[in-house]
Amino acid sequence: MHPIGRLALFAMALASALPAATLQRGPYLQRVATGEITVCWRSDVAQTGTVRYGTSPLVLTNLQSSAVVATNHAVRIAGLQPATTYYYAVEQEGQTLASGANLFFRTAPGPAYGPSVRIWILGDSGTANAYAKGVYDAYRSFAGSRHTDLMLMLGDNAYTTGTDAQYQTAVFAMYPEILRQTPLFSCFGNHDGYADPGMTQGEPYYDIFTFPAAGECGGVPSGSEAYFSFDYGGIHFVSLDSAETLRTTNGAMHAWLEQDLAANTSRWTIALWHHAPYTKGSHDSDDEAYLVQMRQNFLPLIEAAGVDLVLSGHSHDYERSFLLQGHYGMSATFDPLLHAVDGGDGDPLGDGAYVKSGTPGTVYVVAGSGGQLGGVQADFPHPAMAVSRVERGSLVLDIEPERLDAIFLNIDGAVRDRFSILKPELRFAGIAATNAGVSLQWYSRPGGSYALWRAANLQSNEWVMATNGIPATAPVNTLLLGGESHPSAFYRVEVEAP
Ligand SMILES: [Fe+2]
Repeated sequence: MHPIGRLALFAMALASALPAATLQRGPYLQRVATGEITVCWRSDVAQTGTVRYGTSPLVLTNLQSSAVVATNHAVRIAGLQPATTYYYAVEQEGQTLASGANLFFRTAPGPAYGPSVRIWILGDSGTANAYAKGVYDAYRSFAGSRHTDLMLMLGDNAYTTGTDAQYQTAVFAMYPEILRQTPLFSCFGNHDGYADPGMTQGEPYYDIFTFPAAGECGGVPSGSEAYFSFDYGGIHFVSLDSAETLRTTNGAMHAWLEQDLAANTSRWTIALWHHAPYTKGSHDSDDEAYLVQMRQNFLPLIEAAGVDLVLSGHSHDYERSFLLQGHYGMSATFDPLLHAVDGGDGDPLGDGAYVKSGTPGTVYVVAGSGGQLGGVQADFPHPAMAVSRVERGSLVLDIEPERLDAIFLNIDGAVRDRFSILKPELRFAGIAATNAGVSLQWYSRPGGSYALWRAANLQSNEWVMATNGIPATAPVNTLLLGGESHPSAFYRVEVEAP
């Protein structure tokens, strides 16, 4: 045989000797930040993994490989642009395991003014049955072509003991489409802990997920994947472990949270942990130590830091509070006059949205009906709740710099709760006095309407409306106020009620 022929034959034999890997799980996305993301998947053959990526689905010219030979892959990609869509494919040993136009991720926007952030939230969803599928299908139908920026799971993600096989059916086989495109964060539920009898983070939960313990996505590093924080588009998220981490005020989680919240300058703050501080659903926040301790030991810190929203599950229903502050006792001691900053329903179409303009207040949501329903206590509903529904479903959030809109979407696709929190603090972009008048610029929101007020001095407290009904015409609105002639004047812009 000719020497070249022998060489070609040898190369062919080598190629055929490589085992062909097939995809067993994912891909799924973790630890998204403005410039980085982690792409995870599982294969049947242990090899090194590579992610190819680029801003066009047809041109995946960048690549990042992991040197680790494994079946579980977590490839960290750095050097990305913020708020940018990247398409990707996963490979092992030159063989493509997954690719296509439906494989893409978006990096996090920075804290500056940006578009609305969509978050899908599932609690206690791990039943792996038609109810879980129905809740997912209802959300996908509701979302349509709207991209979901983040997905949050509130614990008990895989029944009954959080094994790897249960995670496969309850999470990876249940939500494959959204997991390929939307980074997932979670908090730890009691059922996630049943796979390991110790309190040593030996559960599959910690193998499956890769959380930012080192502050990779913003926030103060916690040094633990059990509790951590991250930033996304002007929203600060705090995920706590109410199941297996010490819940006392002198514990490490409490000390870290205090530091993290003190350093937080985000416009919105959302906390999540599994054991709801207020519930009368299938669990009772008056009786169970996990729930009582989270309420008594953590809510004072949460509320003092101005956290806007607390998301929990554990009870298999939907419960949503008024805008609250200062209720840390048993349900019988709840007094709306003392503990509700706003005792209305928070519905823009009802009593009106909650408004936080330098004022305190936190809304507490129990969204634990992502996979099944439970019973309720004899004294259901909890008096702190504005809305309580024994219905399967999920929570959907849309967050802009000035407003948070939430809905509870049930399994039939019906909106069964709606509330909004407004933060109408506006930021001026510039002010100038010219012969033509006073030119004002401020950051505005599409569809917004604004009123301009004037005062001779800040102490007078005598603000006079200069003009109102000013429509938003651009991300930075400009208004030339003619005929202004004052020795000095102060101006204030307000968002007009939606
Ligand atoms: Fe639970």
